[in-house]
Amino acid sequence: FSLKNYNSFGIDVRADKFVSVSSIDDLRRLLKKSYSSELFILGGGSNMLLTEDVHKTVVHIALKGIEVVSENENEVILEVAAGENWHELVLHTIEKGFGGLENLSLIPGNVGTSPIQNIGAYGVELKDSFVSCHAINIQTLEEKEFTRKDCNFGYRNSVFKNELKGLYIITSVRFRLTKKDHQLNLDYGAIRNELEKSGIKNPGIKDISNAVITIRRSKLPDPKEIGNSGSFFKNPVITRNQFEELQRDHPDIPSYHVSDDETKIPAGWLIDQSGLKGYRNGDAGVHKNQALVLVNYGEATGEEILMLAKMIQDKVSQKFGVPLEAEVNIIE
Ligand code: EPU
Repeated sequence: FSLKNYNSFGIDVRADKFVSVSSIDDLRRLLKKSYSSELFILGGGSNMLLTEDVHKTVVHIALKGIEVVSENENEVILEVAAGENWHELVLHTIEKGFGGLENLSLIPGNVGTSPIQNIGAYGVELKDSFVSCHAINIQTLEEKEFTRKDCNFGYRNSVFKNELKGLYIITSVRFRLTKKDHQLNLDYGAIRNELEKSGIKNPGIKDISNAVITIRRSKLPDPKEIGNSGSFFKNPVITRNQFEELQRDHPDIPSYHVSDDETKIPAGWLIDQSGLKGYRNGDAGVHKNQALVLVNYGEATGEEILMLAKMIQDKVSQKFGVPLEAEVNIIE
């Protein structure tokens, strides 16, 4: 079974077996009759790089449903099944007039995988509206609810990428969204510019969503056209001292404030300044509009993308002395 259509990088590897589960009962039955080591859990496939055939049964989580758990005049709690497409959820909330997810428009992937790496963009992170998620323990089949605190969210990070890696399958996520007095986040200059261009003075959640969609379309390749997994690397966090040293040699280096002694710098800038934006070797390349995104122009293998990633890490480390860490989950 080819996984090409089930990973946004479009890598053509094979799985021994492929099962799509559309109910929690089916999922439980499957878990009961299999050893967890024989299963490979697949969500939206938008944050992984497959480098070889998967000699396991791939379990595609296709649980669907969006429900209102509770609401009052100010806010609503939505419970969303893991297999719902992220961007379709965002559009649904905007149509209903629920605020909180608008800055996260057009992020590829499914709802069930969104907490694993605490997806984020344009000043907003999943954790800002996250209430809890339900998950099933792959070994004991026990169901557990994880609160925001349990998830230990960080920048593109959570407990599901660390202590609990591979142990739970997230089945649904609850969000707290606003029905009025929306907390609009316009911190990003790019959003303000976009709104200004469209002549919008008092933006609402739909205007912000539209602005984000326009910005993302202009910089980021559409995985349906060119295979990719969004940002391939995390933006590195370095010490204040290290940053000041870099700034001496590169006065125009962009940065984001993290704390008094730490600064985050854009990996895309580092890669760009290393002369690699638009670089291409065969079908593996660095996107021409955003150097943080690695792309598959068609037939690249996972190995080829991985080699490209390693070459980029070496170059950036030689030039700036800053190590880049993959954001994408590399399956080796
Ligand atoms: N830059 C360059 N050259 C490039 C790319 C970026 O010089 O090729 C510079 C830009 O000019 C800008 C800075 O780097 O000054 C930051 O670029 P940008 O605003 O595009 O954002 P980013 O830091 O590269 C992060 C997230 C994105 C998210 C955007 C907007 C990470 C790893 N990436 O990218 O998330 O959409 O901010 O909030 O944190 C993703 O995770 O898949 C993703 C796309």
